[in-house]
Formats: sequence, structure tokens, C-alpha cells
Amino acid sequence: MMIKARKLFKEISDLPTIPAIVSKVISLLDNHDADPDDIADMILSDQVLAARVIRVVNSPLYRSSSEISSVKRALLYLGFKSVREMILTSYFIEGFKQKEQPFDIKTFWMHSFSVGAISRRIATMVGYEDVEKAYLVGIIHDIGKVFLGHYCREEYGRMLAGINNTSYTTYEAEYEFFGTTHSEVGLCLAQRWNFPASYCDVISYHHASEMATEDPLLTAIVSLADFFCLSHVTAGSLAQASIPGMSEENAWKVLKQLSKKPIAPGLESFLSDMFDTYEDVSREVDLLFNSLIT
Ligand SMILES: [Fe+2]
Ligand SMILES: [Fe+2]
Repeated sequence: MMIKARKLFKEISDLPTIPAIVSKVISLLDNHDADPDDIADMILSDQVLAARVIRVVNSPLYRSSSEISSVKRALLYLGFKSVREMILTSYFIEGFKQKEQPFDIKTFWMHSFSVGAISRRIATMVGYEDVEKAYLVGIIHDIGKVFLGHYCREEYGRMLAGINNTSYTTYEAEYEFFGTTHSEVGLCLAQRWNFPASYCDVISYHHASEMATEDPLLTAIVSLADFFCLSHVTAGSLAQASIPGMSEENAWKVLKQLSKKPIAPGLESFLSDMFDTYEDVSREVDLLFNSLIT
């Protein structure tokens, strides 16, 4: 499957890129001793990014009591990690916005944001040390679908139409149609963008969590968040999943083994507990989505 994915990749000359400013801002934000002035200057050097930071900090999502009009104040108010999240997610959306898709891109991003938000929730429940990371990688776990949808548009559209109202998942159908799936294609993209190894692992194995080696707990978190969102929330034209498969069963085992806090005894009760918090998550996703997309 990986060979097929690489072959697909090789044939494409206009691969999406991440602007250099984004990599710079992210590495600066990772350094906790970094001076907020340096980071503000860096953000200000990209007007689109600066405007976006101001817009998001003033959106209902962050409920600031008074209007925040400077990048430096926005950074202090939101905190480094939230700004890192925001920059990454908005550039992903931006980078793929112009690319025509055979599916509804809004549904795709709503699924991605939901998986990010649920991953963060699960990460908190199990005491995973970096909940922001769980959120970020949750958002980008399906990035390979955007690639396949754009660069193999007609075929991907035919494939989706063919599995509509069937029990086939997009993962299974992709394998039959393309001999590879969004997981391998997503991995090629993540490697091209020099993502950290744990991100690559989640993108590559969120449908085969038993294969994860870098950070099995992180992959398990995203795998279950994805399953939850597909089966309870955004099931529809993009993918279907209702019965836990081997990947989810394994993810659940890993979660139980590695959780630092007590969790529900069975997967079903765990997922139904998640459902209770879904309304909050869904409100949060709506707000973030609207403040980034408009
Ligand atoms: Fe997926
Ligand atoms: Fe997904």
C-alpha cells in the first residue's frame, strides 16, 4: 500500500506546501522561553496570519471581555499552545481550500475538528501528557483524504457514490479502488511536511492502531475519537463505521492498559460517557470552524 501511495505522490508536481512562516512560528512557540515580542513580530510579518489571530481571539470561542486588537495581547490572552493550534489548523484549511473535492469539504473539516476535540477530551480523561498534541493530530488524521479527493477527483467521486448507503467504509473502498488508502497517502504528506514521528504514526495507523509504535496511546486516542465521530456524529457520505473493528478493539485495550486515570470498564460505556460531553464539543467546533473559515 505504501509503494502505491509513493507512486501516486511522485506523479504530482503541485503538492500543497506549508508556508515557511508556519514552521517558524511553530518552532518558536514550542520554545517556552521564547520572548512574546519575538513571536508577535514573527506573526506580524505575515498580515494574513496576524489578522486571523486577532479575529479568532475576538470570536465567541474565546469570549474575551474586551476587544483585543494587538497580536501581543492576543498571544498573552490565548497562550502559546492555543496560538500554535490555531495557526496550524487555519493553514491546513487554507492550504486545501482552493482544491476541488468530490465531497463536501465543510463536512470533512467538521469531522476533523470533531475528532480533534474528542481526542482532546479522551486525552484528558486518560491523563495523556500532551492534550494539545492529541487535538492537533486529531484534526489532521484524515489529511490523506483531501489529497486523494483532489488529485484523483473523478475516481474518488465514483468510489464514494459506489459505497453510498452500503456498509463499506471509505478505507476499504480506497484500498479496492486505489490499492492504497488515505492513511498511507497521508503519511507521505506528513513526511513531506517533516511532521514529528508520533504525528506520522497516528496518520498512518489510525485505522490499524495495532501497528502503532511511536506513541501507541496517542494513536489509540485518535482511533477511538474517529470511531466515535463516525458512528455517533458525522456518519454520512464520507465514511461509515458502527461496529468496532480490530483497530478499535486494540485501541480500547491500549487505552485501558496505559490510562493514568480510572476509566469506564467497557468500550460501549466509555463511548456513551463521551456522548454526554458531545454537545459542548459540537458547540466548540462550530465556533472555531466559523471563526476560521469565514
Ligand atoms: Fe481515516
Ligand atoms: Fe476520520
